[in-house]
Amino acid sequence: MKGVVLAGGLGSRLYPLTKITNKHLLPVYDKPMIYYPIQTLINAGIDDIMIVTGGNYAGHFLQLLGNGKDFGLKHLNYTYQQGEGGIADALSLVEHFADDEPVCVVLGDNIIEGNIRKAAEDYRKQGRGAKILLKQVHDPQRFGVPELDGERVIQIEEKPKKPKSDYAVIGIYFFDNTVFNVIKTLKPSDRGELEITDVNNHYINEGTMTWAELEGWWTDAGTFESLLHAANLVAKTGANNLELSAANS
Ligand code: DAU
Repeated sequence: MKGVVLAGGLGSRLYPLTKITNKHLLPVYDKPMIYYPIQTLINAGIDDIMIVTGGNYAGHFLQLLGNGKDFGLKHLNYTYQQGEGGIADALSLVEHFADDEPVCVVLGDNIIEGNIRKAAEDYRKQGRGAKILLKQVHDPQRFGVPELDGERVIQIEEKPKKPKSDYAVIGIYFFDNTVFNVIKTLKPSDRGELEITDVNNHYINEGTMTWAELEGWWTDAGTFESLLHAANLVAKTGANNLELSAANS
């Protein structure tokens, strides 16, 4: 299984911080934001990774990450998303890299306390279709929200005004290689983006979607409030099951 970190987009919700660099290079406590999703993949045993960058400061990723030596990697792959066409548009750029293998996709601003090793193992056994991870939240309106019928997810709504559950679909997804054909059928949403929620709904309708509840905390970091929240969570408990830095111990 290949790993993908989506770090395109313009980060306009974090302006003026994003006037001088890419959102995913901003600090979350003691590390740049993008370190956390990369570590999430590595902790799941996935070390063939492509980073989708975008915007005016894509070169900063190379300066920071190089070939991934800080993570014990020998090589990192990069590609560039023109404009801000949405999460599914960014994912479409890794088709060649995926090379018929399934992909584990992590949004560049999603940070978790624990790890996704069990979900990755379960998805490997599943062998086809897709898998999403859910987390109970107090503000589901900000996210993709699943409608559940017992153990079954019936559909997902993107940022619903009246959420049908208090779960969020977090920004870590497992897809088989048909995902690239699914993306080719999508139409832009009202916000002008190819939505990952439409991709997930395709797999739900096909009957090949599974889900699991994520253990430990999860947050995005794409707004001033959530960026501060993420830094506080990392400072307090650490992330990705890693030891707290020496400065904090
Ligand atoms: O954080 C989880 C949520 O992420 C999900 O619950 C939603 O279903 C999903 O749509 C997404 O919602 P957001 O509106 O918060 O996503 P945002 O536009 O902030 O993008 C999240 C990351 O995806 C961003 O840090 C980089 C990547 N991205 C986004 C866009 C729009 C790209 O690589 N390219 C893009 O064009």
